[in-house]
Amino acid sequence: TDIHAMHLKRNKLFEPRITMAITVLGIYVADLVFFGQKIPQAGETVLGNNFVVGPGGKGSNQAVAASKAGVKTHFISKIGDDQFGRMAIEMYDEAKVDYSNVSISEDYSTGAAAIMVDEVTGANAINVYPGASGAMTKKDIDDAEPAIRNSKIFLTQLEAPKETVMYALKKASDLGVTTILNPAPAACIEKSVFPLVDYFTPNEIEASFYVNHQVETHDDARRAAESLLDMGVKNVVITLGERGAFFASAHEAFFCPVATLKTPVIDTTGAGDAFNAGLAVALTENMSVQEAMAFASATAGLSTTKIGTAKAMPSREQIEASLRGE
Ligand code: RIB
Repeated sequence: TDIHAMHLKRNKLFEPRITMAITVLGIYVADLVFFGQKIPQAGETVLGNNFVVGPGGKGSNQAVAASKAGVKTHFISKIGDDQFGRMAIEMYDEAKVDYSNVSISEDYSTGAAAIMVDEVTGANAINVYPGASGAMTKKDIDDAEPAIRNSKIFLTQLEAPKETVMYALKKASDLGVTTILNPAPAACIEKSVFPLVDYFTPNEIEASFYVNHQVETHDDARRAAESLLDMGVKNVVITLGERGAFFASAHEAFFCPVATLKTPVIDTTGAGDAFNAGLAVALTENMSVQEAMAFASATAGLSTTKIGTAKAMPSREQIEASLRGE
């Protein structure tokens, strides 16, 4: 081995990492949310009871949630030069998200998501069209390299163009930044990508996509997590809705129950985003995995007690109060 290369590697390894920031890569869209007694089936029309427009997109929701939960957060994305795009900027200003890596497309408008919410159970179904965010390229990642390099956690999902997401994951991993891949929506990933992932965080539906069996019960989750660890990810977190979440690594495995809430669940949309952001924040602050799972569950739980996604993310004070049982 070349001694200079060894020396460089060693120096890199011992470089002190003083930053306490998170970088999120993902899409921003406007959420068009329809509330009704049920989610319509194909061919069916239901009369809605409410309609709201708000900021959405998994990546954007996660960036807002992480910033509100108390850690400096950079967001990498693309928006259109339009009303929906302006809604994003207003929200990032309000939530103090660093949006210097959110560029404005000259070619595309901001995308949108049609979200149907069952107001009886809070369940949802989503069709999301990424619009301008769907035009993110490797260049956008190269431009954002300083933010990634100075972060402790890099968090992303599978809504942005896959090639761009994979390029960014590789870059973050090469830079020694801890990576979280929230594989939502589930899509095929090359085998070589799994070892780049420090935390793989599917929900039950996404987990079943990767392991080819149903994931409903705790036993299913345990089995799925084992398969995912075998594929090369270092830690697996499977979120199971009201059944809590399951953590597994080579060293430990445990279930974390859902947070106890003081107010009723009214809209679960964005709960997964809140969970991932809470996890990222807790890991940035060096909490143990047990503490991190509880912090993520509290963040997710609180987000379901309000309508909307980004707008429903709790503050650090609310998360801490919930963890104290208040
Ligand atoms: O996770 C919820 C989000 O998924 C919504 O905000 C919607 O925009 C889709 O991206």
